[in-house]
Amino acid sequence: QRQNEIDSLYIALNFAKDFFKQQLQTPDGQAIGLSYFKERDLRDGTIDAFDLGYSSSAWDAFTKEALSKHYNLDILQKAGLTIVNDKGRQYDRFRDRVIFPIHNLSGRVIAFGARIMTNDKNQPKYLNSPETEVYHKSRILYGIYQAKNAIRQVDNCYLAEGYMDVISLHQAGIQNVVASSGTSLTKEQIQLISRFTKNVTMLYDGDAAGIKASIRGTDLLLEEGLNVKIVIFPDNDDPDSYVRKVGSVAFQEFVKNNSQDFITFKVKLYSKEIKDDPYRKSEVIKEMVASNIKIPDPIQRSVFRRQIAHLLDVDEQTLITEENFLIKKER
Ligand code: CTP
Ligand code: MN
Ligand code: MN
Ligand code: MN
Ligand code: MN
Repeated sequence: QRQNEIDSLYIALNFAKDFFKQQLQTPDGQAIGLSYFKERDLRDGTIDAFDLGYSSSAWDAFTKEALSKHYNLDILQKAGLTIVNDKGRQYDRFRDRVIFPIHNLSGRVIAFGARIMTNDKNQPKYLNSPETEVYHKSRILYGIYQAKNAIRQVDNCYLAEGYMDVISLHQAGIQNVVASSGTSLTKEQIQLISRFTKNVTMLYDGDAAGIKASIRGTDLLLEEGLNVKIVIFPDNDDPDSYVRKVGSVAFQEFVKNNSQDFITFKVKLYSKEIKDDPYRKSEVIKEMVASNIKIPDPIQRSVFRRQIAHLLDVDEQTLITEENFLIKKER
């Protein structure tokens, strides 16, 4: 029974994906949706590889079409595609937006992200499918289906924030990239990556939110035993804007030259505030020790301990004392 329902959800979601793709090729879809993608420099092959689509501003264009093809209203609702309001009126969740289907590991569409095409601050920039029987946002990473072979081959996974970061890099020939899609990274998402590689390079946005998310993400990645490098982009650039600015060769060069381990990352990040403030400096050292004890491998932990000692001029025995203190506290 439940399996039947899940199959029906997949079929409805696939139908929706095809519908939104077709809408992109209608005269309105081309004038509004396709031209939006073209303005963002996407090529036809890229648009196709990611199954990008368009939803018109009509209230129920999709729902009407699906019902006429005998899709069940209950399934359309459970798939997160159709909303029925208090008055019983049926309408489409995604209207007047460009559509980014979210694929699971085997390439099936399980959800959608949808972006407004204006800078209207009164609407959310992206609207996403709700959690459903087939979409658990904490367990999936955007782009994993398109990226998995490259991740294995390169033996490294670039982790970005957004849909457009994944798509732009992919178009630039950099295919080992997935996105956490704005939600904070989870253990399940990291375990998904670790099926393909143990090496993660975080390419979050170069704004305050991105830096904060990098700090949090780093601890979680370390805890799962992954090797993590962090790249900070110049002010307010994200991988999408940066690769379009400098091109793919310079992008890869930048990533290569600016990949930092978590210690170097934090030393640089906090360098100004700890320079003349021993109290702040001790806090930062404690934060680094707290990160370091998350690493399961004792050899790695000792290598990073030595680095903390060296870069912050504190002796290793003191760091070990602090480690033991923190470990005892956590128990
Ligand atoms: N996001 C979301 N809902 C929002 C804003 C963001 O779900 N209201 C998610 C999206 O997956 C988005 C990611 O968080 O791709 C990163 O957000 P942000 O950096 O603000 O957007 P960009 O991906 O850079 O979007 P764009 O380049 O299209 O402006
Ligand atoms: Mn479930
Ligand atoms: Mn961002
Ligand atoms: Mn961004
Ligand atoms: Mn962006």
